[in-house]
Amino acid sequence: MTQEKTGGKIAIYPGSFDPITNGHVDIIKRGSRIFDKVIVLVAYNPRKSYLFNVEERCQLIREIFKDCECIQVDSHDGLLIDYLHNSGARTILRGMRALSDFEYEFQMALMNRRQTKNVETVFLMSGFRWFFTSSNIIKEVASLGGTVRGLVPENVHQKLLEKYPIKNNRR
Ligand code: PNS
Repeated sequence: MTQEKTGGKIAIYPGSFDPITNGHVDIIKRGSRIFDKVIVLVAYNPRKSYLFNVEERCQLIREIFKDCECIQVDSHDGLLIDYLHNSGARTILRGMRALSDFEYEFQMALMNRRQTKNVETVFLMSGFRWFFTSSNIIKEVASLGGTVRGLVPENVHQKLLEKYPIKNNRR
């Protein structure tokens, strides 16, 4: 199969990234060992309300991967498959933690496939140490004064402290 037929080895890694966690970073690094280019796409999930705006989320991700040429960051507020069509990419990258992720991911992958036949979703297992983390549980703990250091990149940790300036000696 030619590069043209597969859309090249570009993967779009879409998500809310509100904020990006070490689990996401792990998937991006794993993806960058497989694909020539990984575009981290801050996309819109109508089922979520966001703590960080799109620019903040993109900026945090850009800072983390500023030295990685093969990792780009972009945002999109429409259908994911429209972004893929416009970018010429044909692969969606998603991370999978435990069984609880499966139903949601399966539903999205099949819905995206129904929209267009030329797109495939590839799943990578996140590192075992990140299985229990999610942006939501990290925000919940941070908002209540718990410690999330080590679960998110340091720039994200600092931003969470700014968003939730609760005096708490565990942080
Ligand atoms: O990190 P999330 O919130 O689980 O990511 C979900 C996301 C943003 C990838 C999904 O909601 C999405 O693809 N949004 C773009 C709009 C779209 O195409 N929706 C249909 C998905 S089948």
